[in-house]
Amino acid sequence: MNLLEEAGKALLPESYNHLSAEEMIHRIQTIRQEFGEALFIPCHHYQKDEVVQFADSIGDSLQLAQAAAQNKKARYIVFCGVHFMAETADMLTDDTQKVLLPDLRAGCSMADMADIYQLEQAWPRLMERFGNTIMPITYINSTAAIKAFVGAHGGTTVTSSNAKQIVKYALTQKKRIFFLPDQHLGRNTTAELGIPLEEMAVWNPILQELEEIKTSDQRLQVILWKGYCSVHQHFTLKNISHIRKNHPAMQIIVHPECSYEVVQAADQSGSTKKIVDTIEAAPAGSEWAIGTEANLVGRIIQAHPDKKIVSLNPFTCPCMTMNRIDLPHLLFTLEKLHQGELIHQIHVDKPTTTNALMALDRMLLQS
Ligand code: 13P
Ligand code: SF4
Repeated sequence: MNLLEEAGKALLPESYNHLSAEEMIHRIQTIRQEFGEALFIPCHHYQKDEVVQFADSIGDSLQLAQAAAQNKKARYIVFCGVHFMAETADMLTDDTQKVLLPDLRAGCSMADMADIYQLEQAWPRLMERFGNTIMPITYINSTAAIKAFVGAHGGTTVTSSNAKQIVKYALTQKKRIFFLPDQHLGRNTTAELGIPLEEMAVWNPILQELEEIKTSDQRLQVILWKGYCSVHQHFTLKNISHIRKNHPAMQIIVHPECSYEVVQAADQSGSTKKIVDTIEAAPAGSEWAIGTEANLVGRIIQAHPDKKIVSLNPFTCPCMTMNRIDLPHLLFTLEKLHQGELIHQIHVDKPTTTNALMALDRMLLQS
C-alpha cells in the first residue's frame, strides 16, 4: 500500500468496510431524505453503479459543470467524480455552498500531467518564440491553477463535447492555440477542423521544448501539451482490426481522448454524453464496440439488452481514480456531514477562482 492509499484508508473508519451494501444504501437514503434539496449529488458517467444509484444529476463534464452553476438550492454538493470536477463545481457555486469529494484520492492522472510551474515556465518561452499569437486553451480535465493561468491569459476551458466549436472560435481570434493537457483531444479536435497534422507540434513540459515539429514556426497552428489519459490510451488500432475482422456489422464509437489513429479508424467519436445518446438512439439489433471507460460501457450494455454491445478492449480496467468513490466513502462523508462535520471539502482560493472563472465563463457562454 502506498502512502496515499494509507492516508485514504486511514480516513475511512475500518467499520465502514464491514457494512453490507443494503445497510449502506439504507443509511445513505435516510440522510438524503433528511437533507432534501440542501444536498445535491452530481455523478460522472464513469462512476460505479453502486454510486450512480444516488445521482441527482448524471452526465459528462460539461453537463456536470452546468448543473453545478445552475444549482442555487443545495448547501452541500457531494461530488461523485474526480478532483478537477469538484474544484470546478466549487468555483461555479457561491461561497455558501460547500463541495465535498467523498475520497480525496480521486484525482485524474491526465490533469496531474500539467503542473502550473511547468506552464509558468512554458508560456514566456512560447511568447518569445511566437509573439502574442497564441490563445491558451485547457481541457476541463486540469487543475484550478491551470484554469486560472489560462483565464488570466485570455484563454478558455473546453470539454470533450464543446471543444470543436470553441477551438474553431479561438482560431478566429488568434493565429495559434496552446492546448493543455490532453494532446489527443487537442489533435483530434483541430484535425476535425481541417488543420493538417503537419501544422501541429507537441510541447514537452519536462524538457520544456517543442517536439514533433514538421513545419516552419510561421505555419505552426497548434501546440499540444504532452499529456494523455491513462485509460483511453489502452484502445488501439489492433482492437479496431479485431472488431472489423470478427464483427463486421459492428460500429465503433470512441471517446476523443483516444489517439488520433484510433479516432480516425473508428466510425464515430464523442464525449461520454454523445456515446450514451448515440447508443440510446440506435435501432434494436444494432451492434456496437465502445472505446471508453469500463463502468460506463458496462452500464450501457445493461441498459440495452436489445443491442449487441462490447468494449472495444475487453481487457481495460475502469478509471481507477473515478473508482475510488464507493458506497463506504459516500456513506462516511454523508454521515459526517449529518453530524455537522465537513470532511473532504474541496475549496479553491479566491484569486485562483476569479481567474479560472474567466476561462470557465468564456466556455459556458458559448455552450
Ligand atoms: P466527458 O466530458 O466526455 O464525460 O469526459 C470526461 C473524462 O474524464 C473522460 O475521461
Ligand atoms: Fe482522468 Fe482518464 Fe480517468 Fe477521465 S478517464 S478521469 S481523463 S484518468
